[in-house]
Amino acid sequence: METLIIPRTECKEIKYQLVLPQIKSLVAGEPDLIANMANVSAALRETFGFWWVGFYLAKSGSLVLGPFQGPIACTRIPFHKGVCGAAYSKAKTMVVPDVDAFPGHIACSAATRSEIVLPGVKDGKVAWVLDIDSEHLDTFDETDERYLSKVVEAMVAEMV
Ligand code: SME
Repeated sequence: METLIIPRTECKEIKYQLVLPQIKSLVAGEPDLIANMANVSAALRETFGFWWVGFYLAKSGSLVLGPFQGPIACTRIPFHKGVCGAAYSKAKTMVVPDVDAFPGHIACSAATRSEIVLPGVKDGKVAWVLDIDSEHLDTFDETDERYLSKVVEAMVAEMV
């Protein structure tokens, strides 16, 4: 499958329901994490039009920018800094409705108003995070968290 079929609906739950199986089949059987990150960031941005979608990998003492779609971003984030650092150090999904109200938020882009970051946990350790930024306030809720965790789960399952 190399074409994403995007439902023409405003309902994000329906979009997730129809796109999730496509994302799962996109990564299924592909052990190359970078390739999967590249395709997943493109698929999520294409489907939902998010401002920025990308990955940071935990390596050499910090979170290092991986594949992404959107404007250029910070290359390295310290393990305990920003929303990505919080998701990494707590091994927990962070949903931030207003980035200005989040102490230590790192403004890679001045346009970002809300954000969700999910940790990719492999063998009990956070190996990477998925970061999605929106130019609108309060974009992400429990529905995003639920479906995006399934995306993360499918990606972790392919890691060797
Ligand atoms: N805002 C993030 C940094 C990454 S960029 O937004 C792409 C943070 O506070 O961790």
